[in-house]
Amino acid sequence: MKKRFYITTPIYYPSAKLHIGHAYCTVLTDVLARYNRLIGKEVYFLTGSDEHGQKIQENAAKAGKTPQEFVDDIVAGFYTLWEKLEISNDQFIRTTNPNHMATVQKIFSKLLAQGDIYLGKYEGWYCTPCEAFWTDTQVGPNKVCPDCGRPVHRASEESYFFKTSKYIDRLLKLYDDVPNFITPLTRKNEMINTFIKPGLSELAVSRTSFDWGVKIKENEKHVIYVWLDALTNYISALGYLGEDETLFNKFWQSEDAEIVHVLGADIARFHAIYWPMFLEALNLRKPDRLFVHGLLMMKDGKMSKSKGNVVDPFPLIDRYGVDAVRYYLARETYFGSDGQFTPEQFVERFNVDLVNDFGNLLNRTVSMIIKYFDGVIPQYKGQVTPFDKEIEEVALNVVNEYQEQFNDLKVTEGLVSAFKLISASNKYIDNTKPWELFAAGKVEELQATMNHLANNLYISGMLLKPVLVNAPSELFRQLGISEDLQKFELLAKYGVIGGQKVTKGDPLFPRLKVADEVEYIKNLMHNV
Ligand code: ME8
Repeated sequence: MKKRFYITTPIYYPSAKLHIGHAYCTVLTDVLARYNRLIGKEVYFLTGSDEHGQKIQENAAKAGKTPQEFVDDIVAGFYTLWEKLEISNDQFIRTTNPNHMATVQKIFSKLLAQGDIYLGKYEGWYCTPCEAFWTDTQVGPNKVCPDCGRPVHRASEESYFFKTSKYIDRLLKLYDDVPNFITPLTRKNEMINTFIKPGLSELAVSRTSFDWGVKIKENEKHVIYVWLDALTNYISALGYLGEDETLFNKFWQSEDAEIVHVLGADIARFHAIYWPMFLEALNLRKPDRLFVHGLLMMKDGKMSKSKGNVVDPFPLIDRYGVDAVRYYLARETYFGSDGQFTPEQFVERFNVDLVNDFGNLLNRTVSMIIKYFDGVIPQYKGQVTPFDKEIEEVALNVVNEYQEQFNDLKVTEGLVSAFKLISASNKYIDNTKPWELFAAGKVEELQATMNHLANNLYISGMLLKPVLVNAPSELFRQLGISEDLQKFELLAKYGVIGGQKVTKGDPLFPRLKVADEVEYIKNLMHNV
């Protein structure tokens, strides 16, 4: 396993407020970053904003602001949201940052000088919101954008082109050589069948119809295509072609680093086709994995600003807490599939998983330890009751399964594993019946039961740490578990906990009244 881990989210367009779909992408990435830190890797986590392009220029004009003022205001909101969601990014890159812009210009000049970019003329169908040119076949008889379904218009301009034809074979070889390069695999097939097989045209990489972008040094009437500008963020943030390339050497070029880009299915094409080609042309390493997640939908389809069916994450966090929102996002949607946001599911996940299964287990355990053993967790003395062997096996299996899933970036599946231990522990209470052991004076059995419950809670708290940023610390506080025991490697052996003094605390999560809260969330689903 590689010792360093570089993980990125896409950089978001500051064209409007972020919705819960964007939060999904960022939380998923944050969970993976936190997990990898916990298992001892050196992690670098990048997110940011993609601030250039025609759409931003137009929106700024509509808002009566300069593009820079416009993006500054919106990006300030990104910072606040990521802070509220406790996103642990190491850097936030803005494409209006002068260092980034200088790197984009240097890359362009390099590719131009070596003949991978040349000047030509572009004619085609242009979709302004998506900033993409399309061919006749792609726009079909209705002349609509194949990505967003909005009308396209005919456009022609002098343009620089990137020679995709030169790199297509190398791209296909990369797909063959690195079978996990694009996951899930369906996305890889989609790239090949939808975009590559029908014939990939040379990519127009400059625009003259607007000027809010990075200028081409050699020809200042052109600005660099927003996707070439944007994709570059993943390496400009590390200092590529800048004054200090330490991070770049450590997290990009080094074979010790695993490079993972997390992104939504709608932008897979740019990451899976053009990005590796640009990197190949620059003679740089390619990422190890493109982790393509599905989209979070509303009942009436894709959540999008233009459809006006957006859920704003802020009020959800304010009312239910950051852990509830992070848990819902990380747990609800299986990797690669589209998910559906419904208020009913949100409230149910909260009540069933967090309140009943997890919070309640802690509550019951702490109360029993106080009642039966004056608040001191009995020491681990091996398997005493007939149920101990089984629960220990569940615990060790869960830890292994969870790690396999998380190492394979499967957050939802990993959480499902973690909750297997929580459910099994609740069942363990039903089986061992501690109140009967107490009544019958079976002290050794009762000690073993309390010890196993405390150990299972400890393990569960550790496994949930990448997702829940508050509850595990409260759990450790109530169980008297010190910092030095909060280490992942300790989970390999069962029975670490024993002797700690517990403290009664508030429930980790308060039970929600289903009807009231469903109503409350429905009211939040406003049109933007
Ligand atoms: O595409 N559910 O930015 P963006 C899940 N600037 N994910 C969603 C979503 C939803 N409903 N809506 C959007 C861009 N996303 C470019 C990226 S990267 C070099 C440049 C995800 O703000 C979407 O799939 O439109 C994408 O991964 C990310 O949010 C940014 O979208």
